[in-house]
Amino acid sequence: MKISEIFENMTYGPAPENASEAYKFLDKFEKKFPLFINGEWQKSDSEVFIKTFNPSDNSELSEISSGSPKDVDDAVKAAKNALEAWVNLGGIGRAKYLYAIARQIQKHSRLFAVLESLDNGKPVRETRDIDIPLVARHFYHHAGWASLMETELPDYQEVGVIGQIIPWNFPMLMLSWKIAPALAMGNTVVLKPAEFTSLTALLFADICKNVGLPNGVINIVTGDGKTGAEIVNHPGVDKIAFTGSTEVGKIIRKSIAGSGKKLSLELGGKSPFIVFEDADLDSVVEGIVDAIWFNQGQVCCASSRLLVQESVAEKLYSKIKKRMEKLRMGNSLDKCIDIGAVVDQTQWNTIDGYVKKGIEEGNQIWQPTWECPKGGQFYPPTLFTDVPAASIIAQEEIFGPVLVAMTFRHHKEAVNLANNTRYGLAASIWTENINLALDIAPQIKAGTVWINSSNVFDAASGFGGYRESGFGREGGKEGLFEYVKPKIEKEFPENAPKVKISKTKTAFNPSGIDKTAKHYIGGKQVRPDSGYSINITNPWGDYIGEMPEGTRKDIRNAVEAAAGSTSWGSMTGHARAQVLYFIAENLSSRAKEFAEKIALMTGQTLNDAEKEVEVSIQRIFAYAAYADKYDGQVHSTTSKNVTLAMPEALGVLGIVCPDENPLLGFLSLLLPALAMGNNVVIVPSEKHPFSATDFYQILETSDVPAGAVNIITGKKDELASEMAKHFNIDGLWYFGSKEGSEKVEALATESMKRTWVNYGKHRNWLDSKHGFGEIFLRNATQIKNIWIPYGA
Ligand code: NAI
Ligand code: MG
Repeated sequence: MKISEIFENMTYGPAPENASEAYKFLDKFEKKFPLFINGEWQKSDSEVFIKTFNPSDNSELSEISSGSPKDVDDAVKAAKNALEAWVNLGGIGRAKYLYAIARQIQKHSRLFAVLESLDNGKPVRETRDIDIPLVARHFYHHAGWASLMETELPDYQEVGVIGQIIPWNFPMLMLSWKIAPALAMGNTVVLKPAEFTSLTALLFADICKNVGLPNGVINIVTGDGKTGAEIVNHPGVDKIAFTGSTEVGKIIRKSIAGSGKKLSLELGGKSPFIVFEDADLDSVVEGIVDAIWFNQGQVCCASSRLLVQESVAEKLYSKIKKRMEKLRMGNSLDKCIDIGAVVDQTQWNTIDGYVKKGIEEGNQIWQPTWECPKGGQFYPPTLFTDVPAASIIAQEEIFGPVLVAMTFRHHKEAVNLANNTRYGLAASIWTENINLALDIAPQIKAGTVWINSSNVFDAASGFGGYRESGFGREGGKEGLFEYVKPKIEKEFPENAPKVKISKTKTAFNPSGIDKTAKHYIGGKQVRPDSGYSINITNPWGDYIGEMPEGTRKDIRNAVEAAAGSTSWGSMTGHARAQVLYFIAENLSSRAKEFAEKIALMTGQTLNDAEKEVEVSIQRIFAYAAYADKYDGQVHSTTSKNVTLAMPEALGVLGIVCPDENPLLGFLSLLLPALAMGNNVVIVPSEKHPFSATDFYQILETSDVPAGAVNIITGKKDELASEMAKHFNIDGLWYFGSKEGSEKVEALATESMKRTWVNYGKHRNWLDSKHGFGEIFLRNATQIKNIWIPYGA
């Protein structure tokens, strides 16, 4: 045979990885696993077991316990008992354990890789070269954060007992993303792995035992969604961290609404892979292999939508098909395969259901000519071309090896198509033109943007979603905030600070006030849609004026004005700062009048009211200063990239103000939102609205663009509910009652908007430790991580 022929016909023989150590581990437990609670292997009191299979050949691997309510209760109690000692160990003390875990994972990396590959069906090449090295990296990186916690986050403390629920697509990697930061920050955990893939979590528990991790710091409770729900609803749990389907994410959010439990959700996606005509198409093809055939496409951030510029579409399709023809599929333990089995028959059916729908919809389908291996859950790599944007397969997360392609002509169309999804997890941009790539990156609504790369991860970078892909970040400094809370929160009282009412009744001066306030929408004073007004009285019960009673229609108009106004968000931080300084100056020159109004409404002495105005002016100055200083980071990841962490405005931010401190409460919330470039719809103090309704004059004289601030007065809880439900509001802050907070969290579930509520607790707005600072800015922004090739 000639060499050239060998190159053409070269075939691979099987290269199976030896699995005997993995089977030995299963045998050690007689293929029937107990739970890991309080540092011990404990039999489940349910005595119900779930079988777990190897999807490459459908053979049964083991049985795992189905954790009962009592098991969950035991685990939560163990975690609670372990908490104090774990916190008191200090950051460096905890770091030692995290390093030890990282080393153990490296030492047993082959066993982890093989067991993961057996249980999940993913190629051992991936678990060996990607999953498990990233797991070790995550523990190392967060061991470092543990040692640095006291220096880097001095104002923060642990959250407490964390309930963590993870999916089956990256079982060990998701475990490390959850456990490493939680432990580093001094929390203890109860983790439930996915029912299809619990084995590596149990191997991990074995390792924790060997490392001598204090009992109860990590508890592993296996089981299905019912066990998960027990963890979510257990009153002893202080935070839930969930990765999985958007559907379950919504159930979880609803069920803990108002409980005060912290929550981070990493949900589904339908991420775009955008190819411009000047891209290097051969690199693009390899990028696509990584983007959608990595892990059989069962990746939350899989680029499952290919958007390609029309001029190169046909050429690219034919290159992709050629590459698909060469992809090798087989038993996950074969070191020479590209694609393994999908996790389970149910997932195979889901994928196939979508593909059938795609065909029914009349889309062009293409699959390689080779046959899938028999006897396992193998699904062929699939390409749909020229798919309309509204088609089901272009909108729904398929979570399988299915790429859906469509074309665009110009850049704006590419951005519109990319953002035409309810999700916002990731995006991948391909072009040889750096100007174009960096012009498109900020326009994409997604938490991660990869430039000329795809599916790159590292512990030093954050990862997480915009929109219905969830909220919260995992990895990087930004991820730590999911596992800490401000120490100051302990000081927030249940009851509003008492207002000192003046001994003498404030003189009522009818000529000095506009008795009929109006809404302020899109830069104009607007009468309420309802035609109703609400009388406002002073503490002695005297009528002092009236405010419009806002309705859903008013909120809708305000959101429309806010969403339609782009000038504020596109200004530089420096330019926004100028406007904010101008606001401070203009308030300064009218300080007396504003103080008198506060005294009139609240009954405070003029002295106290003057103090409120003075602090308000200081606060505006401080946020003006922050407008160009709360900037991001460049993360030190392990790839040849600069990974930018850019805080971006949420977009349209709804704000519901506290009743107390009518001017300072209003400005302490409005200003950080504005400084970060949000457009705001704000509901002022229900009791004392006139400081806010007068403020429109200051906004107008200070050159605030129309639509950047919209003020709607009325019954705060009703307006908060309308805002929570509204799909074009991206975030909502609520400072009101405990019940109101619960309602906001529950109603915000459907649109998955970020919420920040006070659970009925109060702040002393005059105290800058309560009413000012970085936490306001953090809640006004979300981090976008942008990976740009660098030094490669
Ligand atoms: P799932 O969301 O049901 O499962 C994820 C985890 O949540 C598992 O550990 C499960 O036991 C647990 N769980 C289920 N119901 C629960 C409940 N009511 N309360 C608490 N925990 C609960 O995902 P599933 O059914 O395995 O996959 C369905 C679809 O979800 C996939 O086809 C895919 O589209 C999507 N998915 C997305 C993932 C992501 O990384 N974004 C990961 C896994 C699935
Ligand atoms: Mg399995």
